[in-house]
Parts: sequence; C-alpha cells; structure tokens
Amino acid sequence: MSEIKVLFVCLGNICRSPAAENIFRDFIDRERLPFGVHIDSCGTASYHIGKPPDQRMQDRLKAHGHSHQGCARQFAQADFDEHDLIIAMDHNNLANLQSLARHYSDSAKLRLFSDFLPHGAPKDVPDPYYGGTEGFDTVITMLENGCDGILQTLQQIRESE
Ligand code: 4NP
Repeated sequence: MSEIKVLFVCLGNICRSPAAENIFRDFIDRERLPFGVHIDSCGTASYHIGKPPDQRMQDRLKAHGHSHQGCARQFAQADFDEHDLIIAMDHNNLANLQSLARHYSDSAKLRLFSDFLPHGAPKDVPDPYYGGTEGFDTVITMLENGCDGILQTLQQIRESE
C-alpha cells in the first residue's frame, strides 16, 4: 500500500510549516497506523530557501519536546501531483496556492489548517516571525491541537481509495 502524502505550507517555510511538519511527524510516529504517512513542508515565498527553521521556532519546539528539523524550499506546481493533502497555515497562503492550481483535482487537495481545529478556533495560524516568544508558543499549541483532525482526514482518504 502506498503512503499518504501530506504537505504543510506557510509563507517562508521557516516558522509555521516546518513546525507543523515536525509536530505532525512526531504525532504519527507515536500512532500504530496500518498505512504509511509521508510529511513535508514548504513556503509560497522564496526568501529563505535552504535555511533551517528559525532559531526561535527551533528553541520553542525543543522546549515543547518536539523535533525541529528542516530545510526551507518553495512550493512548486509538481507538489500538487505528489501530495494527497496540502494544508495552508493562513488564508493568504491558501489564496496563493489556489492561484497556482491547474485544475479541480489540484484545488480539491487544499485545506486551511484551521479546518482541523475545534469550532471557534482562530481561522489563521498567526505568523510569529515579527513577534515575541509567546507567538511561537501559540503556533505550537494550535499545531498540536490539529493533529487528531488531520489524522481522521487521512483515514478517510485511505478508506475512500
Ligand atoms: P513562516 O514565517 O511563513 O511561518 O515561515 C515567516 C518567515 C519569514 C517571513 C515572514 C513569515 N519573512 O518575511 O521573511
């Protein structure tokens, strides 16, 4: 059985989406799933290509007991072909991805991260880049809270195949 492939997308791929990638991979590693999950992240912008996650995000991920690896890259249209589920951190990221979709089967793979959060949660994972430590902690908590919902969606994708 092939792996299900998930891609997290933010703007720079140095704060939110690499954190989502590491947190969700740590979560999946603890589950005993009957199928494999491949997890990656990227940014819609090119500013930080090749860089590791922002040092502040690495520090907060470590403090919360998470992995903190990564090397930034930019989203490419080929990512639509290679992934089953593409999760944007905020509405701007989602709009950028929608503008790159070539046909319905591309846009059907797109979700907003907050779709996986409980009702009433903020609609965007806030960009922590220009703020203080508490912004990074807020992002990490939101990302942790979305893991169960994303896993349920992966199980639905697997059952529908
Ligand atoms: P990210 O955060 O999209 O969560 O990786 C940002 C990183 C860099 C910049 C903005 C947001 N920047 O403007 O360089």
